[in-house]
Amino acid sequence: MASQTLYLYTATALAVLTTVLALRRKREPPRQQPAPKPHPLASVPSEQLPEYIQSLLAKLPNCVILQSDIAAFQQAVDGSWAQPNRKIIPACIVRPCDAQQLGTAVAILKREQDRRGQAGVPVAGFFAIRSGGVNPGLGASTVRDGVVVDLSKFCEVVPAVDGSTVTVGTGAKWIDVYKRLDEEGLVVIGGRNSPVGVGGLTLQGGISFYSPRFGFVCSNAVSYEIVLANGSVVTASASSHPALWRVLKGGSSNFGIVTRFTLRSLPSAPLWAAQIIAPASFQHAKAIKAYHDYLSHASSGQPGAFDENAAGPIMSFVYVQKIGLKLISINLVYTKAPENKQWPFHWKETGFPSLWSFKRSHAVESHTTAVERFGRTAPPGTRYTMGTTTIRNDAETMRAAYAIFCQTTTELRHVKGLLFPFVFQTILPGWANKGDPNILGLEGCTEPLIIINCAVMWANAKDDELVRSAVRRTLEQVDAAAVARRADHPYRFMNYCMEWQRPYKGCGEENVKLMREASQKYDPDGLFQNGCTGGFRLDFSS
Ligand SMILES: Cc1cc2nc3c(=O)[nH]c(=O)nc-3n(C[C@H](O)[C@H](O)[C@H](O)COP(=O)(O)OP(=O)(O)OC[C@H]3O[C@@H](n4cnc5c(N)ncnc54)[C@H](O)[C@@H]3O)c2cc1C
Ligand SMILES: *[C@@H]1O[C@H](CO)[C@@H](O)[C@H](O)[C@H]1NC(C)=O
Repeated sequence: MASQTLYLYTATALAVLTTVLALRRKREPPRQQPAPKPHPLASVPSEQLPEYIQSLLAKLPNCVILQSDIAAFQQAVDGSWAQPNRKIIPACIVRPCDAQQLGTAVAILKREQDRRGQAGVPVAGFFAIRSGGVNPGLGASTVRDGVVVDLSKFCEVVPAVDGSTVTVGTGAKWIDVYKRLDEEGLVVIGGRNSPVGVGGLTLQGGISFYSPRFGFVCSNAVSYEIVLANGSVVTASASSHPALWRVLKGGSSNFGIVTRFTLRSLPSAPLWAAQIIAPASFQHAKAIKAYHDYLSHASSGQPGAFDENAAGPIMSFVYVQKIGLKLISINLVYTKAPENKQWPFHWKETGFPSLWSFKRSHAVESHTTAVERFGRTAPPGTRYTMGTTTIRNDAETMRAAYAIFCQTTTELRHVKGLLFPFVFQTILPGWANKGDPNILGLEGCTEPLIIINCAVMWANAKDDELVRSAVRRTLEQVDAAAVARRADHPYRFMNYCMEWQRPYKGCGEENVKLMREASQKYDPDGLFQNGCTGGFRLDFSS
C-alpha cells in the first residue's frame, strides 16, 4: 500500500511536470530558423564540379540541386529525418520526376563507377538512395560528398479499379498513403508510424498492424517497378522476373532502385488500441512474465490461442532522463474493433490488464489516427539512433536484457534529454510466413521470436559517441546473455538495424544464394554492391 501511495505521488508529480513543461514550451517565443549556411561546394563553379555531376546537370537540368542553391539544398538535406544524417552533406542531390529520368541518372552513376574502376580508383560508395529518409542508421540514405538520389517525387497513390491493390510511390510517407486511401475506404498492409517512407520500410521487411493477418509488408507487394543498373525499367512480379520479385522482399537496395510498389489492400475498418503506462521499478517482473506467457500461449497451437487480429504486444521500457524514471509502456492493438468498444477477450485474458499502472486508456480509432498517434513519439530533426537484436521467448533472457538496459541507462543518466526506449515486439509462427515468400530467413520459424530494439533520443552533440556506443554495447550484451542461455537467434529485423549490423547473415544460406544470383544477373558489374552506400550489402564478410 505504502509503495502504491508513493507511486500515486510520483504519477501526480509526473502529470504536473508534463503540464509545466508544456506551458513553458508554449510561452517560449517562436524560434527564428537561422538562415542556412553555405556548404563548401556552394562557391565552386559548376564546370569545376566532378564530371559525373556535370553530366547529371546537363542531362537532368531540372532535377539536380547543387550546394550553390543554398536554401533548396539545405531543405533537401533536411529530407533526412534523424539529425545525425542531416550533418552528412552530399555534393548534390538529384530528384528525378519519373522512372525514365531516374534511369538516366542511374546510367550516369554506372558510367562513373566504370570510370573509377578503369582508373584503378577503389570504388567506395559514392551515391545513396533515399525514399522517406527516416532510417536513422548513420548514412543509411545519404552520403558525404557524393550524390543522394532523392525519390520524394515518386509519391502517387493509385488504387486498382477492383480495389484489391494500390500502387504506391516509393517516396510517399505512410501517413499520406493512408489519408489518401481513407477517401476510398481502403487500407494497405504498411507502416505504423506517420513519418516513415514506403520504400525503405517495404524493401527491408516491414511490420504492419495487419502483419498477424497478412505477414510482413514485403510479403504483400504484388509487384515492383524497378530501375536496374543498366538504366532500364522493369516490372518484377510473380510472372515477370520472379527471381527478382522474390529477392526484393527483404533485399533492400541491393538490386536496383524501386520506383513504385503495388500493395495488397483491404477495406479500412476502425482499430481497437490500448496503452498501459506503469512504473518499471516494481512492475517490470510482472510485465516480463505477462509478455513471456502471452507469447507461449499465442504460439501453443491451441485453438484460438493465435488471433490474427491481435497486433502487438509492443512492450517498451523507457528511461526518461528529465525525470530520472523508468516507465513501462504497453501497446495492444486489435484490428477488429469490438462493437462495445471494450477490451477484446483476447487481450483481457492476458497478464497485461492487471499490471499496476499510472495510466491506461483504450479507444476505437481509425487506422490513420492510430498511425498519427504512434508517429508522434519522435519529431523530425532529433538526435536519434536505433539498433536491434532477436532472442527466443526465454523469460530468464528477458530479465537479463532488462538488467542490461537498467545498467546502460544508469551509466547514461547524465546525458541531457535522453529518452531511451527498450522495446520488445514479437514475430509469431502463426504469421511469420504469411503472404508471398521473402528472403528474411524465417521459413522454419516454429517458435515466437522477440525483436528487441533501442530507439534512443538525446539532446547534445557532445553525447553522440557516448550514446551510440552504449546502444551497441547494450545489444552485444543482450546477445551474449541470450547465447549463454541458448536463447539467441540469427534473425535481425533489418528495418531497425544500426549501420554496423549485418542482417543478411541471419537470412540463411539459401536466401543469400538467391540474392547473390539475382545480383549477378541484374547488376553484373556490382553497381549496387560497390557504388551504392547506406543500408546493407550482400558481402557481409567485412
Ligand atoms: C519513428 C520510426 C518509426 C518506425 N516504425 C516502423 C514500423 O511501424 N514498422 C516497420 O517495419 N518499421 C518501422 N520503422 C523502421 C523503418 O521501416 C526503417 O527505418 C525504414 O528504412 C524507413 O524507410 P524510409 O523509406 O523512410 O527510409 P530511407 O532512409 O529513405 O531508406 C532506408 C534504406 O532503404 C533504401 N531504400 C529506400 N528506398 C529505396 C528504393 N526505392 N530502392 C532501393 N533502396 C531503397 C535506402 O537506400 C536505405 O538504405 C520505424 C522507424 C522510425 C525511425
Ligand atoms: C538491362 O538489364 C536487363 C536485366 O539483365 C536486361 O533484361 C535488359 O535487356 C538490359 N537492357 C539493356 C538496354 O541493356
